[in-house]
Amino acid sequence: MRSLIKHVLRREEPCDDLHVAGWIRTRRDSKAFSFIELNDGSCLANLQIVADAGIPGYDDITAMNTGASVEIRGKLVASPAAGQKWEMRADSLKLLGGVPEDYPLQKKGHSTEFLRSIAHLRPRTNLYGAVFRTRSRMAFAIHRFFQERDFVYVHTPIITASDCEGAGEMFRVTTLPDDKASRDAEDFFGKRAFLTVSGQLEGETFACALSNVYTFGPTFRAENSNTSRHAAEFWMIEPEVAFCDLAGDMDLAEALVKFLVTEMLENHEGDLEIFAKFVDKGLRERLEFVATRPFERISYTDAVELLKNSGESFEYPVEYGLNLQSEHERWLTEKHFKSPTTVFNYPKEIKPFYMRLNDDGKTVTAMDVLVPGIGEIIGGSQREERLDVLMENFAKHHLDPEAYGWYADLRKYGSVPHAGFGLGFERLLMFVTGMANIRDVIPFARTPGHCEF
Ligand code: 4AD
Ligand code: MG
Repeated sequence: MRSLIKHVLRREEPCDDLHVAGWIRTRRDSKAFSFIELNDGSCLANLQIVADAGIPGYDDITAMNTGASVEIRGKLVASPAAGQKWEMRADSLKLLGGVPEDYPLQKKGHSTEFLRSIAHLRPRTNLYGAVFRTRSRMAFAIHRFFQERDFVYVHTPIITASDCEGAGEMFRVTTLPDDKASRDAEDFFGKRAFLTVSGQLEGETFACALSNVYTFGPTFRAENSNTSRHAAEFWMIEPEVAFCDLAGDMDLAEALVKFLVTEMLENHEGDLEIFAKFVDKGLRERLEFVATRPFERISYTDAVELLKNSGESFEYPVEYGLNLQSEHERWLTEKHFKSPTTVFNYPKEIKPFYMRLNDDGKTVTAMDVLVPGIGEIIGGSQREERLDVLMENFAKHHLDPEAYGWYADLRKYGSVPHAGFGLGFERLLMFVTGMANIRDVIPFARTPGHCEF
């Protein structure tokens, strides 16, 4: 049976009948033998293989170049070389797929921009292998976090007719031909439909039945923002908790981020090394800081005062009632608090219809978690559970109460205080890997003007 290199390298004992397969990273020949560095993507490290001239398959050795796929059988022996416990002595080699000279991933380093243009090959590099193994482990850790706390995983729809965030940044889903694009009643669903921007509204229906739920799925936003932190297709984790208020929501958000950061520190299978060495020298220290220290908390009103008195010259104005821009968020978390920071109680005018109105009549129970290097990674709130206030919100936000009748029903029948949030999965990955661009933590990025692969 074929062994994965990650298991081979962890072995305690040598082994006489080892079978591995993978892609050649490098090969060096001498007269009597060749050294092969083999990687199969199961871990960052390569397995070093020594192949004596003359063994079966050695005839093809000159075709076993960087990028070629091979299958190798032999023995695992203690390595005399420094820095590695094991090496493999090949008994036979088999070339599976050769590589012409134009293979783009030769040994030298490549820019992230170039690698994005070959996103179908970049998982074969050390860095992107590490990124996407981390993505997988983080996804699993997220499920563990919630499952261990008795949250039920809910699959909310991807096609929807409601605009959760009310920002109108939705991709339309239609089967109508162009010349009939406005005839909604004739469309597939008999009305206008879109790709969802958030699973929250449907998530709420399940929280108001199963108590603690979470969604984890793809979401879509047609915002035309070409930044390093925005993608048109991204994944979001959205817990929703019944009998929970804003304070409980902030506690849960903080616990989740800390859990995932700790997971990155403790269970990275070597991948953290490459991020800490080549991507972000301060990464480990930052993760340790975040894992152990409480997050700062500040109200929007106080944050605006701090920003106004900061003496910084920001590009965008700071004024009560305006949205905090990325530069403001980053000043708070990077320069002022030097810590993840949760900003809460925003003016109702700049937030969606579903957030609970505070007793001051001015602010809603919104909260955003900001982290150094990125800004917002979480947005959430306590939800408006009072039917009459919700109905007023529909009117204020020009939403058709009939279309949201099912959502209002949650307030009509056994309403409960409840709260939740959305964690942007790619932003979390940027945070734990230090990768500076969202395009580099999602397998195939969809951004304005780009839908390759
Ligand atoms: O703050 P947002 O818009 O909140 C919601 O969608 C709520 N319905 C969530 C909830 O309460 N259940 O988005 C949540 C998070 C943001 O903090 C950010 O991390 C991420 O989703 N996000 C994006 N990530 C990548 N590209 C984009 N275009 C994103 N827009 C939001
Ligand atoms: Mg937000």
